[in-house]
Amino acid sequence: MCGIVGYIGEKNCVEVIMAGLHRLEYRGYDSAGVAVVTDGALKCVKSVGKLKIMDKKLEDNPLSGPLGIGHTRWATHGAPSEVNSHPHFDMPMEIAVVHNGIIENYQELRNELQKEGVTFRSQTDTETIAHLVRKYYTGDLFVAVKRALQDVEGAYAIGVVCKDHPDLMVAARHGSPLIVGLGEGEAFIGSDVPAIMKYTRKVIYIDNGQVCEIKRNSYKIEDIQGNPVQLEVKTVDWDDAAAEKEGYPHFMLKEINQQANVIRNTLRGRVHEGSEEVNLPDMNISLEELRACQKIVIVACGTAWHAGMVGKYLIEKFAKVPVELDLASEYRYRDPIVPPNTIMIPVSQSGETADTLEAIRIAKSRGAQVASIVNTVGSSVARESHGVVYQHAGPEIGVASTKAYTSQCTAFALFTIWLAETRGAMEKAQAKEMIASLRELPDKIQWILDNQDDIKRCAEDPKYRDAQSALYLGRGYNFPSALEGALKLKEISYIHAEGYAAGEMKHGPIALVTDELPVVCVATDGDVYDKMVSNIQEIRARRGIVLSVATVGNEGIKAHSADVFYIPECFEPFSPILVAVPLQLFAYYVATNRGCDVDQPRNLAKSVTVE
Ligand code: G6P
Repeated sequence: MCGIVGYIGEKNCVEVIMAGLHRLEYRGYDSAGVAVVTDGALKCVKSVGKLKIMDKKLEDNPLSGPLGIGHTRWATHGAPSEVNSHPHFDMPMEIAVVHNGIIENYQELRNELQKEGVTFRSQTDTETIAHLVRKYYTGDLFVAVKRALQDVEGAYAIGVVCKDHPDLMVAARHGSPLIVGLGEGEAFIGSDVPAIMKYTRKVIYIDNGQVCEIKRNSYKIEDIQGNPVQLEVKTVDWDDAAAEKEGYPHFMLKEINQQANVIRNTLRGRVHEGSEEVNLPDMNISLEELRACQKIVIVACGTAWHAGMVGKYLIEKFAKVPVELDLASEYRYRDPIVPPNTIMIPVSQSGETADTLEAIRIAKSRGAQVASIVNTVGSSVARESHGVVYQHAGPEIGVASTKAYTSQCTAFALFTIWLAETRGAMEKAQAKEMIASLRELPDKIQWILDNQDDIKRCAEDPKYRDAQSALYLGRGYNFPSALEGALKLKEISYIHAEGYAAGEMKHGPIALVTDELPVVCVATDGDVYDKMVSNIQEIRARRGIVLSVATVGNEGIKAHSADVFYIPECFEPFSPILVAVPLQLFAYYVATNRGCDVDQPRNLAKSVTVE
């Protein structure tokens, strides 16, 4: 969950590291630190709180040098404090370590090291690594790190430097993401590509159990036993500007506003105008496997799980294959049954969510074919799956997922059409119509975005802005919209919000309805519209504040609603892709009106790489 950056080269490493950490701040931001090897010494600056505090501290205590490592932390072991922030050191403070992940046997290791006379400074699991490296250090840092890691159980991405080696940085990975970037006479390590994108596009994705010795002009990769490993150097084609805010006050608002293009990108090359065919070759599923498929299992966490629910509704309706939808954290612990001919579809923006990865491993070991929907190219989920549909949504920096969600739903729509056609469950004519509807979505999203001022104004209204609690209701295809709308509001505005299937309203949530409760009702045109209107009447009868999401042209709904957000008319099964947008905007504007930091909400991290 934390962010790591390291640099060796001609530049001042502190500048490179701080620029990288700012790009990674979405991974964690409760404390930060930098260690630099310079003039035969190891120097360090740490601070508690967001990186801007660290920037200030570095202004007051300038630090520079050609080699260093830095870290932005999201606490797992030990409260956020200066002493617990990374880098961590061996006893003489000659070896520095930054770490992302959790060392599961750290207590055992700590006890042993203490018996051997080591004194610990912090409560972290990471500090054990620094002392272990020291224990095995006899002059060769690469050898010592490999040996130390043989004692370690758990997940890690680490960067290590030593005062004796001004020309060397060692990095290793097991379970947590880590990349090495190569430049001209310089090299980088990072948790993620945006950390180093400003400086290089040449990247090596280090794999589990691998350790890399990095110098200015060379590198060497081995596994922790010392066997050499060859990895491909990849060129990342992300646009650097993609990681910047491009004039928006927050990444979240930028990412919401990108969604018309994002959906175009998700569709690009996979469907063509006037065609009834969908191309998803990277899913790596043969037509025979699609035809033989008896069951689909979708696993994901958070917002991606809501996209999975949209996927379930689409697949069962059109491809007629039973779909099991599970939270990855539940799936991995419940001894799931994986019958022959099961296809698992994990969904993950980051591709690094620990529970989703573990669910994949379980399903694979039980014989499932795994084809994932992933945004981050080269991520662990993508690499551990047999095949992948990349979302092509670009980097998502805002902690609250927005564009990743709509593009995941779009990927499910593509997969559904492909599966349904291949299995003979859908006529070509219908496939053609559905593809045409998909291709219209970007313009329809743009229409919503162009009209966002109405949503902005509405979010300023104290009855929403100052609400204590909110309820979101939807039915059918838009039940997941209710769940996702409520999640968006609660995670960034801290207003308690619950999403419910509207049909369940009378089984509990109706008890909450008062004249102070906003109830967001997704009542777009379609099969369940009349049922939603009945729900709305019931809420009105109890003086609840109804905020409807309806289809353009439905003027009648205004009579039953305090406010209405409109979406353009569309093919009902794809309506969640449109409905998400006003709900994201509403959450964003309510949260900013309440003064919340929407890009870095309290206690949340972008990517949950530990349990
Ligand atoms: C975290 C993020 C969410 C995200 C979830 C799953 O909770 O804050 O926005 O939906 O993880 O992440 P993934 O990267 O697997 O989609």
